[in-house]
Amino acid sequence: LNNGVARTPPMGWNTWNTFGCNINETLIRQMADAIVSTGMRDLGYKYVVVDDCWFDPNRDAQGNLQAHPGRFPSGMKALGDYLHARGLLFGLYQVPREKTCAQYFGAWPGSTGSLGHEYQDARQFAAWGVDFLKYDWCSPWGTINDQVAGFALMRDALAATGRPIVYSINPNSIHEKTGPQRNWGDVANMWRTTEDITNSWNTGQTNGFPMGIQNIIDVTVPLASYAAPGAFNDQDMMVVGNGGMNDTEMRSHFALWSIMASPLIAGNDIRSANAATLAILRNQQLIAINQDPLGVQAVQVSNDGTRRVLAKRLANGDVAVALLNQGSSTTTVSTTASAIGKSGSSFTLRDAWTNATSTSTGAISASVPAHGTAVYRVSGGGTTNPPATFRLRSESSGR
Ligand code: DGJ
Repeated sequence: LNNGVARTPPMGWNTWNTFGCNINETLIRQMADAIVSTGMRDLGYKYVVVDDCWFDPNRDAQGNLQAHPGRFPSGMKALGDYLHARGLLFGLYQVPREKTCAQYFGAWPGSTGSLGHEYQDARQFAAWGVDFLKYDWCSPWGTINDQVAGFALMRDALAATGRPIVYSINPNSIHEKTGPQRNWGDVANMWRTTEDITNSWNTGQTNGFPMGIQNIIDVTVPLASYAAPGAFNDQDMMVVGNGGMNDTEMRSHFALWSIMASPLIAGNDIRSANAATLAILRNQQLIAINQDPLGVQAVQVSNDGTRRVLAKRLANGDVAVALLNQGSSTTTVSTTASAIGKSGSSFTLRDAWTNATSTSTGAISASVPAHGTAVYRVSGGGTTNPPATFRLRSESSGR
């Protein structure tokens, strides 16, 4: 979506994965402080997103949304001011239908979706200083055309406020599960590609709830051509630091979100994050690959079921390569400079985890533990004639 924001994948933190509906203003403020004190803000994690359950179950007499009085007694404007004063940005959750997801599933009373209140709610968000809206379909009702209309209505309502607001949608629903996914780049800045993520490497499904890391990659890889500045495939909030996976898998998760140009929205409790978790979330090389201004997603170079190679073109001509081992024991994963769209005979490989550099005449290879991902930033040589799978949409005979 060409609305001036999210030219690179949005980065931040979201309440849902760790706290669900158990949220309040003290928690959000503490998290904001932790995002600053851990240095995460300065690495780019700016959007603090308050997901479902922030609101009063009832609108006021004028039909306006209101903050939940017990949980956000100071109100949403005050929360936005708190975040802005710390150099952070403010995100809120809402839905295009009658009920939010938690209301739909009975976890929260009321029926306060934006249906019929789109422009009023957008003006309210802007008045509160909202910088990011997560808009979650969460309804079995309607067709894909209804979804497009519902999401486009809020897109237009947000634009009418004049405030730059990242528009994050979740169209994932019964309608999207069976066929190829729509490219939502005309409607939103980021759109979910799957059902909810869980703390697991592989749940064995690519078409249901919940989704493991590898399953999400399986779904999003074919959508690479949709990604562009202002428009990104959203692989869901991260579960780094939330348990359920070993360190290798956690590192793989972050590496894959980075190279896939997915938004990097942390979902763990930053206040109690341990050193290993922070080392992953603060990996500057991977963040740079994710935030590269070219704004493209990695494309698949090869996948034999065990060894999977993904490569992402970068603005300065470098190419980032992920060597993923999907198997259950250590194996060597390999590709070549020419396979990732590089020409020439001498390259520098920078390891995103160790920062070590090595030189290569064309081989790119690593011994990778089970479920691990080695990442190299490959520089040198040229990229004058990228193979078709690497061409951008703006380049002739691209995808
Ligand atoms: C479903 C979404 O996929 C989740 O990320 C979260 O926003 C919940 N709804 C909130 O109810």
